[in-house]
Amino acid sequence: MEVIIKSDYDAINREAAQYIAELVYHKPTVVLGLATGSTPLGLYRELIRLHKDEGLDFSKIVTFNLDEYIGLPATHDQSYNFFMWDNLFNHINVNPTNVHIPNGMAGDIDAYCEWYENEIEAYGHIDLQVLGIGSDGHIAFNEPGSSLGSRTRLKTLTKQTVEDNARFFDTPEEVPRYAITMGVGTIMEARTCLLLANGEGKAKVVAEAIEGPVTAMVTASALQLHQDSILILDDAAASKLKQYDYYKWVYDNKPE
Ligand code: F6R
Repeated sequence: MEVIIKSDYDAINREAAQYIAELVYHKPTVVLGLATGSTPLGLYRELIRLHKDEGLDFSKIVTFNLDEYIGLPATHDQSYNFFMWDNLFNHINVNPTNVHIPNGMAGDIDAYCEWYENEIEAYGHIDLQVLGIGSDGHIAFNEPGSSLGSRTRLKTLTKQTVEDNARFFDTPEEVPRYAITMGVGTIMEARTCLLLANGEGKAKVVAEAIEGPVTAMVTASALQLHQDSILILDDAAASKLKQYDYYKWVYDNKPE
């Protein structure tokens, strides 16, 4: 695991965006796995800036999103589909036919999940998977207890997640209880995993994921077994790491 610690949120976004920009530059057809949530918003803003100010060309990239709520159409302003177009895709020159976001309105969810897995496989693999981390240690919607070998599937959201989401909906009945999510096993097949975390609120779970035991109770800890995982953290999110000084030392003394 490569742990990169930066001073603040802006700095982690610049570092992550630079990493992605180089990938896109060297391989225009790069397959990117993308996440939603508040964490990658700054990264997406920086990618939009690189496109607008520096001409970074996204016309040939292929994208796969991690997850989507079941029962929300793409037009619903709380759907992850809406989020991605609103916060990234509408502002860069991505080809809409290359965008893959799980369809929360699919009729046969199991068959759809199998199709999604096959579609990823058809592109060979995901080159770079962007991840956030939930305060319970989840990646995508792989809540505590999810198999570390899991594949794309329907996942029942925890009561806590449903309650947390209630504020975004007019009535409790509208709050989704299920999601389609890539599995931990699916994520682990990406060539590189890039997890971003910021803020003190994530410090405890970041330390568990990086320095604690590998466990299905903190699905992000599976990244310890990944051969190329990069974690870009701000100082606050890194503040509970036992090896904090060592990670900084390694970064400052990177061999040429
Ligand atoms: C989103 C996703 C989730 C989030 C996680 C952190 O597609 O897969 O795992 O990355 O819940 O969310 P934020 O960034 O809002 O703290």
